[in-house]
Amino acid sequence: MMSAGEANHPMRAIGLQTSLPIDDPESLFAFEAPTPVPGSRDLLVRVRAVSVNPVDWKQRQRAAQGVRLPEPKILGYDASGVVEAVGPLVQLFQPGDAVFYAGSIQRQGTNAELHLVDERIVGRKPATLTDAEAAALPLTALTAWEAIFDRMRLAEGGGAGKALLIVGGAGGVGSIAIQIARQLTRLEVIATASREESARWCRDLGAHAIADHRNLLESVRSLGRRHVDYILCTNDFEGHWSALCELIAPQGSICSILGAKQLDVSPLMGKSATLAWELMFTRSSHATDDMAEQHRILDRVADLADAGRLRTTLTETLAGFTVANHQQAHTLA
Ligand SMILES: NC(=O)c1ccc[n+]([C@@H]2O[C@H](COP(=O)([O-])OP(=O)(O)OC[C@H]3O[C@@H](n4cnc5c(N)ncnc54)[C@H](OP(=O)(O)O)[C@@H]3O)[C@@H](O)[C@H]2O)c1
Repeated sequence: MMSAGEANHPMRAIGLQTSLPIDDPESLFAFEAPTPVPGSRDLLVRVRAVSVNPVDWKQRQRAAQGVRLPEPKILGYDASGVVEAVGPLVQLFQPGDAVFYAGSIQRQGTNAELHLVDERIVGRKPATLTDAEAAALPLTALTAWEAIFDRMRLAEGGGAGKALLIVGGAGGVGSIAIQIARQLTRLEVIATASREESARWCRDLGAHAIADHRNLLESVRSLGRRHVDYILCTNDFEGHWSALCELIAPQGSICSILGAKQLDVSPLMGKSATLAWELMFTRSSHATDDMAEQHRILDRVADLADAGRLRTTLTETLAGFTVANHQQAHTLA
């Protein structure tokens, strides 16, 4: 445990105070902040690697639009690191443990030397992965896992004779969803890809068949499937909506990880089909009773990675905790 007196050591962090275009030199800046003190179930983690996802640039654009925040906001969600200190009620980890997690959107982020995170949303870092490889996993893996098992309510080992369509198969979430569905269910997995390279990538990860999202309805139908039982949509949800309504099987489930401004859900009624939403930050934002599910999921993900059954989707590594690297990562995410 850390005493309050130890909180005075400064740590380095990268943050923002106003939402600016990423090519503005002030869009992100380095500063020193007091080392935070763990609350009751918090871990203080020495961050070794972070990964940058679309949520990072979306938060950068939204967090301080037209205002200057009184204190810098630290972005960063996915992280891999080592537990440095623990809060008084922590049960799952101890100092020295290697961990990985996707954090909370309500708290300061992981772009700092030291970071506070509730132990219930943290997993053990996969031993066989580097910190950079491990940091690329939690946010996409939690999203894919929660979408398949918690929102569409598939059972592990289930899905025999049924099909799952993953729209955006080669994306961050789609790539993990293909692997989880193949490893842990008996579903037929159809992934969408529009390029030869992304189609090959989806097949390598285990997709049984590929459809082209540029003409989704015809492409899935040309595979000989009139309907699919489950659809996970990770891209252009509103653009694909009418095709998804056509393709979903009676009593099937559609899960979107994207919001929608305007959506006519009435086509689902005749089929008694379900529309479910998945937001990876819901459990931590609302401190739900089952928040520790994310601890359990990440430990399972670590087991799968260590068993060679789940591949990290790390694309590019930028070495060094610098503003320039974070700005570059925001342009790549
Ligand atoms: N709700 C949540 O908790 C949650 C969690 C994570 C991410 N997200 C959101 O989900 C979105 C996707 O994130 P990601 O990191 O998985 O994706 P990503 O890596 O940015 O997705 C890239 C892939 O999308 C495919 N794609 C491009 N246009 C498409 C279209 N019109 N229809 C279908 N697929 C298309 C591309 O495939 P081809 O190259 O084959 O064309 C490409 O492989 C982001 O907006 C992100 O913010 C939400």
